[in-house]
Amino acid sequence: MNKVLSILLFTITTSVIGQSIIPKPRLLKASGKNIEFGKIEITSLPKKASFQTESFQIKWDFLRGELIDKIPQKEGKTINIILALGYLPTEAYSIQTSQKQIVISASSYAGFYYGVSSLSQLLEAQKNKSCYEISEGLQIYDAPEFSYRGMHLDVSRHFFPTDSILTYIDMLSRYKFNRFHWHLTDDQGWRIEIKKYPLLTQIGSKRRETMLAKNFNPYKGDGKPVSGFYTQEDIRKIIEYAKVRNIEVIPEIEMPGHATAAVAAYPFLSCKKDTLPVATTWGVFEDVYCVNDNTLQFMFDILEEVMDIFPSRLIHIGGDEVIKTRWDNCDICRNTKSKNQLKNSNELQSYFIQKIDSFIHSHNRAIIGWDEILEGGLAENAWVMSWRGTKGGIEAAKQKHNVVMTPGTHCYFDHYQGPVDIEPLAIGGYTTIEKVYNYKIIPEVLNSTQKQFIQGAQGNVWTEYMPNFSHVQYMTLPRMVALSEVLWGTNVDYIDFLARLEHHKTYFKQQGWNYKK
Ligand code: ACM
Ligand code: ZN
Repeated sequence: MNKVLSILLFTITTSVIGQSIIPKPRLLKASGKNIEFGKIEITSLPKKASFQTESFQIKWDFLRGELIDKIPQKEGKTINIILALGYLPTEAYSIQTSQKQIVISASSYAGFYYGVSSLSQLLEAQKNKSCYEISEGLQIYDAPEFSYRGMHLDVSRHFFPTDSILTYIDMLSRYKFNRFHWHLTDDQGWRIEIKKYPLLTQIGSKRRETMLAKNFNPYKGDGKPVSGFYTQEDIRKIIEYAKVRNIEVIPEIEMPGHATAAVAAYPFLSCKKDTLPVATTWGVFEDVYCVNDNTLQFMFDILEEVMDIFPSRLIHIGGDEVIKTRWDNCDICRNTKSKNQLKNSNELQSYFIQKIDSFIHSHNRAIIGWDEILEGGLAENAWVMSWRGTKGGIEAAKQKHNVVMTPGTHCYFDHYQGPVDIEPLAIGGYTTIEKVYNYKIIPEVLNSTQKQFIQGAQGNVWTEYMPNFSHVQYMTLPRMVALSEVLWGTNVDYIDFLARLEHHKTYFKQQGWNYKK
């Protein structure tokens, strides 16, 4: 049978029994005849006292809304949804149906949210029928393989308004991602309001123009100013929006490199103290933070505000691509080295990150950084994000540090997803959806103890060549959908995945979400 025909047949059969859920549940059995209904109502919540608090009421109201809004009411009987406490792992859930009711069991809000999400995916495929059908003996047991299931977004190279960020969170939550890594600062724009240092946004969030695609040398700009930042109020709203969707928002404040926008606002931060413009080209830049107590105090002040806004346990501090030529020629940096017996600039970078690590740790949080933070010695409590392949992740796991895998080969969604001559301009690379789907997160070379440090993986979306949010969607959908199933640990059959994906493409169209056709 040819591939297209088999996908078509599979689509028909899967939609009949409602198995279009992505990520695919660990176990799904449908038996018995179908029951028909037109409306659903959550009639019972878990009885445990900790679920009865005021903050939970907000979440239950949200869950009710999710079901009612996503599943239009039809003629016919109402089926009751019972949310019941079950002794299941965090984020796991089960669904069992009978003639009169659907029971979703979980031990945490996350589990209930995912149960409701899966049920709503199962029913949404029946939107156009006169009533809903579900088999009376349906049994689903489901739990993720990885605890860190992330998607990243760079809002420095291009700025996307708050509404776009909320849509991005909708995209993530639909596919049971639980971390949004928000890359808020870089050379081309500082995008988070910091009350103590207003110039970071007054100056650092604006650039004169953007280099026309790939016109590095000779430089040619487009003459169009770019600006934008999120107020602390915007950010709090986004964090709350994400929270009821079981997504933790992890801020990234880049240091000590990718710092041009900050240096443009506060020239005392760099070694040369020159007044610089916010960068208008892409790449890596020499004017990184000068390593001294004033810079560190500035970073601590910023991080105080950041931790006040973001409740996440992890705070991303960047650490990648630090050009060290300024440090090598700076008296202040030399002084920091000699005072602290640091042999070279790698050790100076490690010193800087260790200071930040201690500060964040003293606030009961932990830093996460790109794999360059291994160079010169890894800070005591740091998590490592492995992006230059898997080497950094392997090394960090061997050193008993937690790791998130984001290798460029499989997790960079700024790479081409099809032939270069038909795809819109991208940064480079070639990462097809099939390649993403077949990604094996845990490096084989690790032994069983070391493997436990691999907490999960993340798709990265750097936006140099994504000037608007529609383009962000085009680059992420459907590759992030494939990654969601890898993270869930049920990515066993690519053809079966493609069949289920058809229904999801219809959903993207209905939502007005752009995607690669
Ligand atoms: C990175 O892509 N520079 C982390
Ligand atoms: Zn310096």
